[in-house]
Amino acid sequence: MSAPNKSYDPVEVEALKPEEIERMREEALAAFAAAADLEALREAKAAHMGDRSPLALANREIGALPPQAKAEAGKRVGMARGAVNKAFAARQAELEAERDARVLVEEAVDVTLPHDRVAAGARHPLVTFCERVEDIFVAMGYEVAEGPEVEAEWFNFDALNFDPDHPARAMQDTFFVSGKDAKGESGVVLRTHTSPVQVRSMLDREPPVYVVCPGRVYRTDELDATHTPVFHQVELLAIDEGLTMADLKGTIEHMVTSLFGEGLRTRLRPAYFPFTEPSAELDMECYVCRGASVGNPGRPCRTCSSEGWIELGGCGMVNPRVLVAAGIDPEKYSGFAFGFGIERMLMFRHNVEDMRDMVEGDVRFTRPFGMEI
Ligand code: PHE
Repeated sequence: MSAPNKSYDPVEVEALKPEEIERMREEALAAFAAAADLEALREAKAAHMGDRSPLALANREIGALPPQAKAEAGKRVGMARGAVNKAFAARQAELEAERDARVLVEEAVDVTLPHDRVAAGARHPLVTFCERVEDIFVAMGYEVAEGPEVEAEWFNFDALNFDPDHPARAMQDTFFVSGKDAKGESGVVLRTHTSPVQVRSMLDREPPVYVVCPGRVYRTDELDATHTPVFHQVELLAIDEGLTMADLKGTIEHMVTSLFGEGLRTRLRPAYFPFTEPSAELDMECYVCRGASVGNPGRPCRTCSSEGWIELGGCGMVNPRVLVAAGIDPEKYSGFAFGFGIERMLMFRHNVEDMRDMVEGDVRFTRPFGMEI
């Protein structure tokens, strides 16, 4: 009969030998250390921590061992697996930190770069041109003055010495907002010119008065290549002691030089405006042909239609009756005024052939004027 086996010698399982376990642990740690990126680490994990890894296979052998050996081997394998898990987690954290740092650099966004390619907007050439004209006069000491576009008929006509039956008041020229009320108070119109700002400026200030008044004006014209019911004027008014027509001409010559260059002559042609006396139309020499196209069919000029002169606008010495209406003593003060259309000036200065281009908002029109803002 056989005696109980007291000196049980555990079966030597090759895979569970301490040096084997140690080797598996070392190999796993070396593989993790060698993994250069998270992808390589994932592969090393499958090889050394996966179901078919040496340590997992060794772990499976434990079950077959007798209790004492089972406990020892279990502890050994458990410790090795714990160390491997820890080493994996540490390396993973390391590689993730490296990746995050790299991504921060590689995917960095330079917020100072232009964020899109949508063209920047710019102001309309009519506006920038108006401001250029204003600047010329501001540099001479003029003040910019503005008035309402919906204006009292009194400012637009009466104070400017227009007779009650003056044709300019008639329906075909003026947009009436409301007629005279029952008490005969002034009617309301869309201003037909910037000249009412002359009267407002004189009432607002003590002489001397030097103002430049840009603004939108309205007339009952159809929109076509050379007319628009809404357009812009710049008005100039100077009131001082001893002003003469020579001051007017010199001032306009300075503006012409500033806008079109040196050496262009200007001329005055007699005209009539109720609010100036004497009145004139002011022409400038054509800045393109300088008169060379006149009587010279071989060299026509589109800018001045071969006339040699370009009409700028109306002007004159402020009518004493207007001074009186604005509370200024005509015995002491005299003044000159000048008004011209911005659209017209933009047309001949930039060869714009169709006025409608200025109001249609097509960027192909505005782009060649540049991106002045
Ligand atoms: N207001 C006039 C017009 O619109 C122009 C003008 C202004 C004439 C000032 C003389 C003096 O036609």
